[in-house]
Amino acid sequence: MITKTQEPLIFEKSVSGRIGCNLPVADTPEVDLSEAVGPVRKEVVWPEIGELDMLRHFTNLSRINYGIEVGFYPLGSCTMKYNPKINERTAGLSGFTNTHPMQPEATAKGFLEVYASCMDILRELTGFDEITMQPVAGAHGEMTCLMIIKAYHESHGEGEKRKYVLCPDSAHGTNPASAARCGYDVKTIPTGADGNTDIAALKAMLNDEVAAFMVTNPSTLGLFEPNISEICRLVHEVGGQVFCDGANMNAMVGTTRPGDHGFDCMHLNLHKTFSTPHGGGGPGCGAIGLKSHLEPFIPGPAIKRGEDGEPYLDRNRPLSVGRVSGFFGQSLMAVRALTYLLAYGKQGMSAISRYSVLNANYVKARLKGVLPAAHDRPCMHECVLTAKEYKKLGVRALDLSKRLIDYGFHPPTNYFPLIVPEAFMIEPTETETKETLDKFCDALIAICEEARSEPDKLHDAPFTAIVGRLDEAAAVKNLDVRWTPASTADVAG
Ligand SMILES: Cc1ncc(COP(=O)(O)O)c(C=O)c1O
Repeated sequence: MITKTQEPLIFEKSVSGRIGCNLPVADTPEVDLSEAVGPVRKEVVWPEIGELDMLRHFTNLSRINYGIEVGFYPLGSCTMKYNPKINERTAGLSGFTNTHPMQPEATAKGFLEVYASCMDILRELTGFDEITMQPVAGAHGEMTCLMIIKAYHESHGEGEKRKYVLCPDSAHGTNPASAARCGYDVKTIPTGADGNTDIAALKAMLNDEVAAFMVTNPSTLGLFEPNISEICRLVHEVGGQVFCDGANMNAMVGTTRPGDHGFDCMHLNLHKTFSTPHGGGGPGCGAIGLKSHLEPFIPGPAIKRGEDGEPYLDRNRPLSVGRVSGFFGQSLMAVRALTYLLAYGKQGMSAISRYSVLNANYVKARLKGVLPAAHDRPCMHECVLTAKEYKKLGVRALDLSKRLIDYGFHPPTNYFPLIVPEAFMIEPTETETKETLDKFCDALIAICEEARSEPDKLHDAPFTAIVGRLDEAAAVKNLDVRWTPASTADVAG
């Protein structure tokens, strides 16, 4: 790893006795903590640092980090759109942050109303009869849908018989993982040359042992599945259920509704389509939508509206799969998502999908000469290109991506979906201007030229980032982000 100027760890800046704040003198008797609360860790070491140096430390760290507020972040499948600041203002309101999940329901009606309103709108946008916001990630939403499908089959005495879940070969890895986690055997459906589900192969695998088909629409190839209603009909014909991976809802929101396509359930990534933060792996919200026949199985307690329209907690759920997260999921995600939904309104929703699709097609068209699309047809909210031509020159998609960092851009997703050689998956999102897209395309065109003229140069990129080319496997597998002092003597001062 090449290390450039790096901000030292805060512990390395620590000087014994230095403090950043003056605590008031205690006006209560001192107690021995271990006597009061039981054994405590003795060796806890805190950095000792003044306020200014602490502030500089974190400001410097933020300056070597890259995020959507620094520049373009076209990471395919992740929908790295701008999350409007108003979302944070409402989520920070003390009425929300000071609500405790265990306080009496009657005193938390406002929060329940936020959930219920958010669910009302999501119901309308997706075309499903029921929504639950308990799952805390997309993968968690997928798994919850499969738990519900399993409970549904069991309630029909078919729990044992239905052992298979079908997934396309283009599926996100979390799809087969969720199915396996629910005890299903996974069978793979190939994608046809046109990028659509191979219907003949699907038909050949459909029988009364199939519990579900998990399909992403638009697919991870960035393509709308034109046969989706026929696919749903075929799966239903053998008694299976159809799950929609809704990670790509940004392409459809306000324009078309998966619930009308024939799906039985779907997950939504609120942290993609509805602008709640991705949060470095959490907290997110993988809300799910379901048709009414699956409603009895949703996680409890369910948030419902009474006949008077007032929201309440329905705890009487005898067929429920049970809780899938503590309390009601990531509650402030509901506040953020509702803020976003109301701020954009109905008109704004369809503008999101229209502009996200337009932007992706613009990038695809501008890059056509250097990075052709894996499937040459209009794409949805992202375009999947292939860098396979450059492999012959010894340059891989990863090399092109790493070089983009030197030009000031976050790289797109590489090597996913797995079925596209040297995949280069670009998702611009609707919140980027044409000028930004043009600068990005100009940079990529220049990099492709470098790949032809000086291919070796690209192997060492990036040159300007805080760290150079990493051993990516080691960086993931030997991740060590926690500094532990061998002894207190390691602390400066
Ligand atoms: C197509 C697709 N499905 C599912 C997921 C899983 O979502 P999450 O990362 O929130 O678990 C992702 C995540 O990127 C995805 O791209």
